[in-house]
Amino acid sequence: AVTSNKKHFLTIGSWSQKEIKHVLAKAHELKAMQKSGIIQQDLKGKILGMIFEKSSTRTRVSFEAGMLQLGGDAIHLKSDDLQLGRGESIEDTAKVLSQYVDVLMIRTYGHEIIERFAASADIPVINGLTDEHHPTQVMADLLTIEEYKGDLSNVKVAYIGDGNNMAHSFIEAAAKVGMELAIATPPGYEPNKTIMQEVLQEAKQTGATITITNDPTQAVVDADVIVTDVWASMGQEEQQQERLQTFAAFQVNETLCSFAKSDYIFMHCLPAHREEEVTTSIIDGPHSVVFEEAQNRLHIQKAILHYVLNYK
Ligand code: CP
Ligand code: NVA
Repeated sequence: AVTSNKKHFLTIGSWSQKEIKHVLAKAHELKAMQKSGIIQQDLKGKILGMIFEKSSTRTRVSFEAGMLQLGGDAIHLKSDDLQLGRGESIEDTAKVLSQYVDVLMIRTYGHEIIERFAASADIPVINGLTDEHHPTQVMADLLTIEEYKGDLSNVKVAYIGDGNNMAHSFIEAAAKVGMELAIATPPGYEPNKTIMQEVLQEAKQTGATITITNDPTQAVVDADVIVTDVWASMGQEEQQQERLQTFAAFQVNETLCSFAKSDYIFMHCLPAHREEEVTTSIIDGPHSVVFEEAQNRLHIQKAILHYVLNYK
């Protein structure tokens, strides 16, 4: 299984505007086909390998089901089951797995780990979440926003909470598609400055406005979409208690949402902690689209797999 010109998907920023739009369009098409019962198995014979160093429900099942629906197969690997867990190098693991499977998805900690995998792999590598980025999730989010709100360049997204992997992928996405993005985090939890710097020029070109504030109300004013995420991400479990205090004023609740447009939608990548980052009334209320968003993981994974596997 050797692809010469491999197309990785490690960050949203690494793909061109054209590629992002192409994959979104493909996902809409694949979703419509599935809804009308059309079976298209053009990844028949292809195998996806998935390495998980952290837990997963949506990413694992949507990738696996997506691959099966397209006629391919998927192998789920926990890093502890691999020799990787006993110290075999990332480079050797990447080279060996490239002999068996056609595409690799990895969920890990530091982003440099997936970059090392990609550098040594002879096959496309897809980022299934690192501490710094969650590109496949934000692609599913763009798909969802398009469905509910249409043209992404006319949409204001308010991201409330931690300046984490989700925030970073949203920043890169906003710059690509010309979206208005207002991020509100507690002081000290702002997104990575380098990522902000890197998107400045592209944001100017696409007409995106990306603002960072410590005031959640200011971010939410006139928003079409309100997004939040857990206050303590995977790997930050020991900070859970401290973060409960720090983030208390950043809860997405009825009061905060009253500043958004009256037809705003609420999104959350899930898993969620009800009554922490979001109240039950909002996440289970009429504005919430979190389960459609979760469903869209499936359609976008299929479009991503399609694109990287057919890339020449
Ligand atoms: N949203 C998301 O990535 O969920 P999982 O951790 O369940 O994959
Ligand atoms: N920011 C969260 C997202 C989970 C899908 C985490 O990294 O744990």
